[in-house]
Amino acid sequence: MFKTSEFVTSAVSLKQNPNKDNLNEYVFLGRSNVGKSSLINCLCNKKSLARVSSNPGKTITLNYYFIDNSFYLVDVPGYGFANRSKDMKALFGQYIDDYLTKNENIKMCFLLVDTKVGPTADDVLMYDYLKYLNLPITVVTTKCDKIGKTLYFRHEKNIKAKLVDANVIMTSTTSKYGIEKLKQLFEINTDLTNE
Ligand code: GTP
Ligand code: MG
Repeated sequence: MFKTSEFVTSAVSLKQNPNKDNLNEYVFLGRSNVGKSSLINCLCNKKSLARVSSNPGKTITLNYYFIDNSFYLVDVPGYGFANRSKDMKALFGQYIDDYLTKNENIKMCFLLVDTKVGPTADDVLMYDYLKYLNLPITVVTTKCDKIGKTLYFRHEKNIKAKLVDANVIMTSTTSKYGIEKLKQLFEINTDLTNE
């Protein structure tokens, strides 16, 4: 799966949403530097489809990737990034809010949480907000290669204690742990793929 993937557009307002056919959108949310862009590259098996950086705040627009003629992956700017100007923060805050609240096409929100760090206060706020909006959520824990396998269970338990009733998938883009499991959640429209 994920045979074809292409970058479509960077958007800063709802009008620029390229999804005119109401296809499913899978959204990647999480604090800056948690690994959203890396995860998109890993799922698409491409090194630099989405820009990755060790400087937090790399992704500042909503970036759309079109997959297998079936759905969009949407890379959302990370929250909790202090270096951005106040105005930019306000602007993107409003846009992301519009995106989440006025969008009928969101099939799944992937909330990314650093496995080792666990959910931050911002992560808990975002989780509660997505729940309040009745959006489907899967918590994806990232960079699990940074902890030993014997600790996976303990960290998952800690995450579930803070993000109540969360579906959790633990992943690493370096070791590829959990990537196949995550891929099961995407619905490919085979009618469209075979065209
Ligand atoms: P913003 O665009 O700033 O919101 O960040 P982001 O969430 O898109 O993070 P990005 O994918 O750019 O990754 C941030 C850093 O984490 C980069 O230095 C990556 O190489 C690193 N990283 C991402 N995934 C993993 C992983 O699975 N394991 C390890 N060890 N590092 C990772
Ligand atoms: Mg990014």
